Amino acid sequence: MRVTVVDHPLIAHKLTLLRDERTPSPVFRQLVDELVTLLAYEATRDMVVEPVQITTPIGTTTGVRLVRPLPLVVPILRAGLGMLEGMTRLLPTAEVGFLGMQRDEETLKTITYAHRLPEDVSGRECFLLDPMLATGGTLITAINYLLSLGARDVTVICLLSSPEGMHILGEAIGDRANVKVVTAAVDERLNDKGYIVPGLGDAGDRLYGVASG
Ligand code: URA
Repeated sequence: MRVTVVDHPLIAHKLTLLRDERTPSPVFRQLVDELVTLLAYEATRDMVVEPVQITTPIGTTTGVRLVRPLPLVVPILRAGLGMLEGMTRLLPTAEVGFLGMQRDEETLKTITYAHRLPEDVSGRECFLLDPMLATGGTLITAINYLLSLGARDVTVICLLSSPEGMHILGEAIGDRANVKVVTAAVDERLNDKGYIVPGLGDAGDRLYGVASG
């Protein structure tokens, strides 16, 4: 598993605002959107392109285009939904699938409550969107699911990560697939409730408010 911590002053600035407990939901959503676009720029660096001949108003030249099949972007509901727009702004032709996952706050185990993905994703570059790589449980389940559908190249975009989650994810995936994690920061640690410290709190609640049920 490869990890890229994107070191950029704009990302650090926006992340600081995002962490601040005084930042209200509308501003939080806007910041997530902007951060994802910046991270997506790095996350798409290895995308495969092929040459294409084009004619400009002045002459002809060879450019490039993304190879088919087109990439698949998969936000993990609920909080990953807040990252979708920022990603598809950069990859407007990507197909979008959905995974609904939730962690049991007692056991910290992952529950998958919804999925909407193509039956076969072999040959696709898959981008998983989840703002927090905390215990790693959700992402391990999500990556294993994509691998079971034939994926071999999975890029995870997350805003914040924990060292513990990063380690567990790396161990769980091993060399079964080409997995890359692109994140804005790796924080200090997890607390005993599985939250990232200092982190930013509950990303879903900060994006969408506290909705239970
Ligand atoms: N999920 C969150 O939203 N925040 C954390 O700190 C950990 C998991």
